[in-house]
Amino acid sequence: MDKITTSTLARYKRDGRKFAALTAYDSSFAAAFEAADIPVLLIGDSLGMVLQGDADTLKVTVEQIAYHTRCVAQGAPSALVMADMPFMSYDTPENAYRNAATLMRAGAQMVKLEGGSWLLETVRGLTQRSVPVCAHLGLTPQSVHVFGGFKVQGKTDDAAMAILDQAKQLEQAGAAMLVLECVPAALAKAISQALTIPVIGIGAGADTDGQILVMHDLLGITSGYIPKFAKNYLAEHGSIQAATAAFADEVRQGQFPGPEHSF
Ligand code: KIV
Ligand code: NA
Repeated sequence: MDKITTSTLARYKRDGRKFAALTAYDSSFAAAFEAADIPVLLIGDSLGMVLQGDADTLKVTVEQIAYHTRCVAQGAPSALVMADMPFMSYDTPENAYRNAATLMRAGAQMVKLEGGSWLLETVRGLTQRSVPVCAHLGLTPQSVHVFGGFKVQGKTDDAAMAILDQAKQLEQAGAAMLVLECVPAALAKAISQALTIPVIGIGAGADTDGQILVMHDLLGITSGYIPKFAKNYLAEHGSIQAATAAFADEVRQGQFPGPEHSF
């Protein structure tokens, strides 16, 4: 795989070529995912849940994301390595700049932040200071206690309009990519069509430009609760390599997610 950059993903979007992304937290899985041609690897703050066993992502620190980013970057020199900025690490633009620098120095090529209008100055400032930004809207898990649980967002017309509007503002502010999590498929489709930047969905239907899964969901490693958007590819395909390749292929062909994985 040639080195994947923000321009590669922009080209995928122009060409209408759908792409898969996965979370990764260590070099061995990162290498396996890269070998299966997964172009984007996210060091998600989901690691607070799937690695540390917490009920939410709020305890994760910049130092922990940096450590796992270094591990993933070692294993996947060609993938675009994206690191989550954890809870309260971008509460002000200045804190965002300092913490993003830590993650970029650890090996990230892009950082991801959860939020809309309140983040515009931060997104513009990071981009101006040479840090590519992926925005994250919809069910933003760092806000779980504001939402009152992990709930689908954008279900009413007003809420959907607000998310579409914030997506446009974030693109305008310089965001190079957008993750949409747990929003109705019709809204995700409208946003993907309205934006020039690639939109990656999770629980957002089949019409986004890319799809991302938490690697544990791909491999069927869960602690009981299985989210609606998850699909256990390992059960069907027998090896991690074959499972990953099948996920990448089904996303490219538009076969995943199906209506049963969508809202
Ligand atoms: O932390 C994470 O794994 C994420 C993805 C679910 C998009 O943010
Ligand atoms: Na995250």
